[in-house]
Amino acid sequence: MGLITKILILVLTVGTAYVGLKICQPDPVPVVEDEYWGPKSDQGKKEDSSIRPFKIDIPAATLDDLKGRLKRELDSNRLVSPLEGVGFEYGFNSKFLKTVGNHWLSKYDWKVREKLLNKYPHFKTKIGGLDIHFQHVKPKAKNGVAPRPLLLIHGWPGSIVEFQKIIPLLSEPKNSKYNYELVIPSLPGYGFSDPAARRGLSTTEMGNIFKRLMKRLGHEKFYVMGGDWGAMITMDMASVYPGNVIAAQSNMCSSISTGLTHVRYILATLLPTFLMTPEETKVVLPYSKLISDLFRESGYAHIHMTKPDTVGVALTHSPLGLAAYILEKFSTWTDKSWMNREDGGILENFTMDELLDNVMVYWVTGSMTSSQRLYAEAMDPAKKHKLDRVPTEVPFSCQFMPNEIIVQPRFSLVDKLKNIQRYSISPKGGHFGAFEAPEVVAEDAITHFEKF
Ligand SMILES: *[C@@H]1O[C@H](CO)[C@@H](O)[C@H](O)[C@H]1NC(C)=O
Repeated sequence: MGLITKILILVLTVGTAYVGLKICQPDPVPVVEDEYWGPKSDQGKKEDSSIRPFKIDIPAATLDDLKGRLKRELDSNRLVSPLEGVGFEYGFNSKFLKTVGNHWLSKYDWKVREKLLNKYPHFKTKIGGLDIHFQHVKPKAKNGVAPRPLLLIHGWPGSIVEFQKIIPLLSEPKNSKYNYELVIPSLPGYGFSDPAARRGLSTTEMGNIFKRLMKRLGHEKFYVMGGDWGAMITMDMASVYPGNVIAAQSNMCSSISTGLTHVRYILATLLPTFLMTPEETKVVLPYSKLISDLFRESGYAHIHMTKPDTVGVALTHSPLGLAAYILEKFSTWTDKSWMNREDGGILENFTMDELLDNVMVYWVTGSMTSSQRLYAEAMDPAKKHKLDRVPTEVPFSCQFMPNEIIVQPRFSLVDKLKNIQRYSISPKGGHFGAFEAPEVVAEDAITHFEKF
């Protein structure tokens, strides 16, 4: 072997080892400062830290305006007919959208729905220059033990509406020694929480705001659970505040670029008998299928990551457009096989009224544009905190619903989540777990939290 070849082999070996080590190396836990996100004009002013009771009470003018728009849109004949024989394959079916619009205009009674949404108390408080809205449900002590504080975090295109059915199952659970004091915030820029006035408010920063919120409510240590963006914020909080998060439950555990996640995923699907349980084998997609499914389902996310404000204009002006954009997700994300149905199957697992409640939260607050910006912040290559490679030791329960878009095998999560105490595939449900199957999600959370 010539000297050149020897040197080449040496360089290659050292290089590969270096790259390998680099890929596997965890990043240190970053320090996340309390930041100010409000308008420049108010910066530096002393912040009012009071907690103010809040009630959802939408002015009649907003509701009249909505009815006027809905009526015009339904009467206008501007809805484009779907292709023959097509259900939801090209997106929300416009025939069914008429049904939704007619229900919204004539049967949906906001005053009744508003009362239901006000059943559990709401508050607002200023954090980092933003009014943060949250529901706070505080049951009495159970068997002499104070209720345990639990933060519930929603995602996109969700809202606090998703959690209304799970509230009593957690605040007054039947089969548990403990009960839970629930704090259910609207993400900044979503629903009744203020949007940031400047760039950079991503999941890590939202976690910082929620940690401050919990502290303001008297809780240094607490439990956290979430789905969708709420699951990302849950993971970020566990990574940055391991001393504050006692335990976490997520119905979308994910690891994106930690260590060898992708290699692990592929290995697991190639060697299922060794690296997956039979339950995982049934729902974890082969990598190529995962990529093609993601490609089909994630166009919206690419738009949000890059030009959220453009599509936001249309969605903030047209109620039918907004309903189609939001409710399409309740079809394929709940069950992919419903894509070829004219009604997208969305009424199989949700009522029209509760689906419209969620659309209303976006409509009356005009928050679709600001909600979409979270994708841009989270995917910004120049963002301040990147936590993909910051592992966490916080005990997790990863509860996957069988119809979730991405079910990551346990084997692919362990570089990021070092302490997965429970990993399960539920018997039923899709992406909106707490909304669709509240009793299934509550049971998992309670069983998990009981141990910590
Ligand atoms: C959703 O609806 C389908 C069809 O009606 C049903 O089989 C499934 O169990 C439902 N999911 C949940 C979580 O109840």
